[in-house]
Amino acid sequence: MEENIEKLGQKIKEKIDAIKSMADAESVRVEALGKKGEVIEILKNLKNVEESKRKEVGDKANKLRVEIEELIEKKKEELKELEYEAKIKNAEKIDLTVPVDDKVGSLHPITIVSRELEDIFTGMGFTVEDGNEVETEYNNFEAVNVPKYHPARDMQDTFWLENGEVLKTQTSAAQNKIMKKYGAPLKAIFPGRCFRNEALDASHENTFFQMEGMMIDKNVSISNLIYFMKTLLSEVFKKEVEVRLRPGFFPFVEPGFELDIKCPYCGGVGCKVCKYGSWIELCPCGMIHPRVLEMGGIDPEEYSGFAFGLGLSRLAMMKYNINDLRALNSCDLRVLKQMKIK
Ligand code: DAH
Repeated sequence: MEENIEKLGQKIKEKIDAIKSMADAESVRVEALGKKGEVIEILKNLKNVEESKRKEVGDKANKLRVEIEELIEKKKEELKELEYEAKIKNAEKIDLTVPVDDKVGSLHPITIVSRELEDIFTGMGFTVEDGNEVETEYNNFEAVNVPKYHPARDMQDTFWLENGEVLKTQTSAAQNKIMKKYGAPLKAIFPGRCFRNEALDASHENTFFQMEGMMIDKNVSISNLIYFMKTLLSEVFKKEVEVRLRPGFFPFVEPGFELDIKCPYCGGVGCKVCKYGSWIELCPCGMIHPRVLEMGGIDPEEYSGFAFGLGLSRLAMMKYNINDLRALNSCDLRVLKQMKIK
């Protein structure tokens, strides 16, 4: 019996040596160690072995089983390695000097809308600023008047980093830095990517774009805010739009508003875009809270200002008739090609 085990071992090892593919490896394994495999059969039939030899035979067969398992595993690793090397050798060669076909790509709708707004705002004397995507808790919340235990934080649950910083939930997070950088007077816009921990649906995404704006000077009032927003939106929609303000609460503005526009598609008669409500909520805004100015190092007794947070993703959806916010982040070329705009 022991001799048989040795012979069997020899035979199986030869087969292992001859393995050329994963499929070979699997069939050798099944032949030896499968339910009805040769080594397994020996173990199953131990009860028929003479009692004095049973332990020895059992030990040998078990040793062989482990040895074969290890050899096959090793073989598989070698095969994987060879496969990888072959792939690298035959890898597709990319010729970086081939001229690019400039008809292939197109700007993303959000980039287009953002650039369009940047053009309009720079034409009105605003500078365009960059904001970080990772922000300190202070800039994202405290500096815009949302202290630690303020309930407004609940609406902007976000992704926290281990070092205590956050993926910014709003472009307002850059307000403080920009005020400290320029002081008053100042006119700036800052577009950016924002993040929130949202349950996703057609109008909620964990990643979206806003464009924040601030104007701070002596005697800035709500009329300035209305004028700038009306001018801007009329240019975006290429026609004179009517705007209205409704009260809205945001801790960093007082008073705060929701700015609506009369539906530019139906002129207010009612259509799918305005959901037959005639007005479309487009841009929260307000007069910057004195505490926020103060935290930015600007004297609220001398200066006042307005701020707004335009939903860029929202605007792009309206402009290009996209009805699912998720399409904008999908990276799905079939979707993006449908909106190939420029
Ligand atoms: N940061 C606010 C949000 O994401 C939007 C906002 C509201 C910005 C009012 C403003 C503002 O500057 O004045 O919900």
